[in-house]
Amino acid sequence: MTGRAQNPPFTGPVLRVADITKRYHLQGPLTAKISRKGEKNNILRALDGVNIELRRGEILALVGESGSGKSTLAKILVGGIPATSGAVHYHGVQMPKRRGREASRRIQMVFQDPYSSLNPRISVGAMLRELLLLHRIVPRGEVRAESIRLLNLVGLEADALDAFPSQFSGGQRQRLAIARALAVRPDILIADEPVSALDVSVQATILDLFARLQLELGLSILFIAHNLAVVQHLSQRVAVMYLGRIVEVADTAELFSNPRHPYTRALIDSIPRMTAGSVNEAFVLEGEPPSPFNIPSGCRFNPRCPFAGDACRIEDPALVVVGSVTGASPHESACLRAADLDELSLARTPNPAVAGTVRSVIK
Ligand SMILES: Nc1ncnc2c1ncn2[C@@H]1O[C@H](COP(=O)(O)OP(=O)(O)O)[C@@H](O)[C@H]1O
Ligand code: SF4
Ligand SMILES: [Mg+2]
Repeated sequence: MTGRAQNPPFTGPVLRVADITKRYHLQGPLTAKISRKGEKNNILRALDGVNIELRRGEILALVGESGSGKSTLAKILVGGIPATSGAVHYHGVQMPKRRGREASRRIQMVFQDPYSSLNPRISVGAMLRELLLLHRIVPRGEVRAESIRLLNLVGLEADALDAFPSQFSGGQRQRLAIARALAVRPDILIADEPVSALDVSVQATILDLFARLQLELGLSILFIAHNLAVVQHLSQRVAVMYLGRIVEVADTAELFSNPRHPYTRALIDSIPRMTAGSVNEAFVLEGEPPSPFNIPSGCRFNPRCPFAGDACRIEDPALVVVGSVTGASPHESACLRAADLDELSLARTPNPAVAGTVRSVIK
């Protein structure tokens, strides 16, 4: 009997973002206000050529200051808004511009504010039932059992079924939002600052939940944060975003011990517990992030970079491999001077007064 030739299973990244850009053409009073401030045009470049891969079963952290484009990328990945150009590949296949129900189901999002993402008028049981039936996840007779399984998976009990979102604490609501995302059995979760709105004491329990879900369900997770400290013990890899571009990617331990972009060094230095005696103690980063209406020419980080040279104001550095530790992923950086950063840092004089400013501008 002749069997049909089968394609070998796809072993590449579950998600690949290829050269994504997102531009907003602003019109009306907002544009006029911007013009008075001396901005050059009304085109805001929220994403300016993003390339990134999410691997099967990993937690990849996406970190960068507020306004760097993290949420914009998240919305494009879940199909909430269209990209201006570029492509998103899911398991090696380009996602269509308009996704069908099945394609939408596979990539789910968890938002920063669980309360606004849950309908206050619908009970937890009704919310889960609606999703399970709409997507035909289980037969009608199994909906209740499946709902309880989902609640247990996120650390909640069956009695939550009859309750409404307002009856839960912030951490519990985020658990509900995660259960809702998991109800449709996605293989990718995009979590956009899911712990930023929670009390510090609750944050750790939600981070633990993400780690457990990764292990138990084999989920691939893009975990967005504006603070590197949050992801240090959670993610396997970290991608650092600056003004609409990825400027550094590496395994988490490698990124923390051997950062190869001055912006990453500043982010690490902004973690309070790491400032005293850290390798980046002398690092200086001044000024507010530049405007996405007017991205600096050359390296987009050059106006704030203490190591900027003449070439940095002309050449726009691509994200390239700058090294790789045995057994680890390639370490990529978009800095022309990535190889010389240690030497350059040593040559600088520590300036604690400015280091304080650095911490205050990284939010
Ligand atoms: N709908 C929109 N219209 C105009 N500008 C937007 C819109 N959404 C986001 N932006 C702008 O895009 C940039 C990136 O925003 P965002 O993706 O929310 O950043 P982050 O999540 O990293 O804080 C910001 O300058 C923001 O003001
Ligand atoms: S390319 Fe130049 S300006 Fe950009 S981060 Fe590297 S040293 Fe700084
Ligand atoms: Mg955001």
